[in-house]
Amino acid sequence: MTIDQGTWWRDAVVYQIYPRSFADANGDGVGDLVGARSRVPYLAALGVDAVWLSPFYPSALADGGYDVDDYRAVDPRIGTLDQFDALVAALHAAGIRLFVDIVPNHSSNRHAAFQAALSAGPGSPERDRYLFRPGLGPDRALPPTDWTANFGGPAWEPVGDGEFYFHLFAPEQPDWNWANPLVREDFLTTLRFWADHGVDGFRIDVAAALAKDFSADPLPSAAELAAIPFGPTHPFYDRDEIDEIYAGWRAAFDEYDPPRVAVAELWAEPSPRKARYAKILGQAFFFDFLHAGFDARRVRRVVDDVLSWTAASGSAPTWVLSNHDVVRHATRFGLPDVDSDDIWAGDRRDRRWLAARGAEPAEDVEAGLRRARALTLFMLALPGSSYLYQGEELGLREVADLPDNARQDPIFARSGGRDIGRDGCRVPLPWTPGGPSFGFGPGGAHLPQPAWFKTYAVAVQESDPASTLNLYRRALAARRDLLARPGVSNDLTWLPTDDHVLAFARGPWTCLLNTGTTPVPLPEGEIIVASGDLDDDQSSVPGETAVWLLT
Ligand code: NOJ
Repeated sequence: MTIDQGTWWRDAVVYQIYPRSFADANGDGVGDLVGARSRVPYLAALGVDAVWLSPFYPSALADGGYDVDDYRAVDPRIGTLDQFDALVAALHAAGIRLFVDIVPNHSSNRHAAFQAALSAGPGSPERDRYLFRPGLGPDRALPPTDWTANFGGPAWEPVGDGEFYFHLFAPEQPDWNWANPLVREDFLTTLRFWADHGVDGFRIDVAAALAKDFSADPLPSAAELAAIPFGPTHPFYDRDEIDEIYAGWRAAFDEYDPPRVAVAELWAEPSPRKARYAKILGQAFFFDFLHAGFDARRVRRVVDDVLSWTAASGSAPTWVLSNHDVVRHATRFGLPDVDSDDIWAGDRRDRRWLAARGAEPAEDVEAGLRRARALTLFMLALPGSSYLYQGEELGLREVADLPDNARQDPIFARSGGRDIGRDGCRVPLPWTPGGPSFGFGPGGAHLPQPAWFKTYAVAVQESDPASTLNLYRRALAARRDLLARPGVSNDLTWLPTDDHVLAFARGPWTCLLNTGTTPVPLPEGEIIVASGDLDDDQSSVPGETAVWLLT
């Protein structure tokens, strides 16, 4: 199979692999590149267009690999550079492209440049690669500001010589100083390094925070900071100078044929501003589905907004229902809905809910899966690119009851256990109903898998035509055919429906989603895929079900 050139990413279905939890070939309990390569036939049969590989770089795992020790190497526990090349070759041979994760906001505190900054001392060029500031007070023992880091605790860490360094996330993740040209140059070298290894695209972690301006004297207090909108006047979120950084990246991407692409990870920016990033890089993540619930009115608003923002910038829409940072959507839709414009509010609430209930969360498992399947089918019919998270094709639920001593996410420890963190969606995948780690590998699993995983295993679902895995396979195969069909367009036309129902057409391809609980009439047409069983006479769409039709 050959890889076609051009703007393949505009309607790509991208499958996120969290490498330490995907497939383990050597039996050490941690997923690896050889394991991932052995699953390329699975990915091809699933029908995805691309894979996004979360960080696989050397790391002490203070934040699941988002604390990078060396950007141009492979963690020896995960594999070697040769094994990376072999994975790229196997993916490409199967017609699947590859995105890798780039973490440019911060390195790890074990990175050689940070270690050099520590030894070189205040005022040195080495320190200027990071954001060091003198402490306040007579003995410089107080942090430069009272700001809080995203994972809790102070955003400044003392280094024992009167200076502190800034970290937006954990103390093990010092932020780079992007005003320093050496930092910019080094990242361009990293991008070229992976592009030379055949990588097709990049997912940019914390993409909106690179440009920082800490020149105000005094810097705003935490309370003042909270009142500054993200954008040109904020000291570190979504400043205008960031465009110039990414223009440099674009120029590097354009050195390649086909040009490389990137998707910017942006959470809280006002969504219309996200289009700026997408315009330069190709794509930005729109996470708006994460707080839309299973609610026709809110889902429609998200679709309309994202389509208009992306049309305005000429970029491609992106859709996401799950990733390694949020409660899996099969669980989310089984919990009481929360209507909030704050993307994080819903997720934090979900995690609190799960934590409070421990081993037996009051989760409506059947409804959660039914709604997850329906909304996924709806998402996959939308124009643009959909990002899937490993295990969602199995309908996997969040593992809410991990023992405290097994939890790895810094959010758990740094919140004093009040927030159970993100480990529940990062538990290694079940491939078989038995075996030491349900087929994840010949040894154990680095996060304990619950007994109920066996019913979700790939091997179990493969032989069940009604399984979630087979639904995803059917949907992705049909999507490929439909996108190649004359008359199927990227313009979406809403069809008139009752409340609780959404229906749209893309030329002859119609998608109907019934979020209500009672059946609604099925429009005329040939049924292509349905997220659940239809009645025998196929005249209606049951509650909480989606269907694709060819008209
Ligand atoms: C976003 C990543 O998706 C998340 O997992 C990580 O903790 C933060 N960025 C910090 O790198």
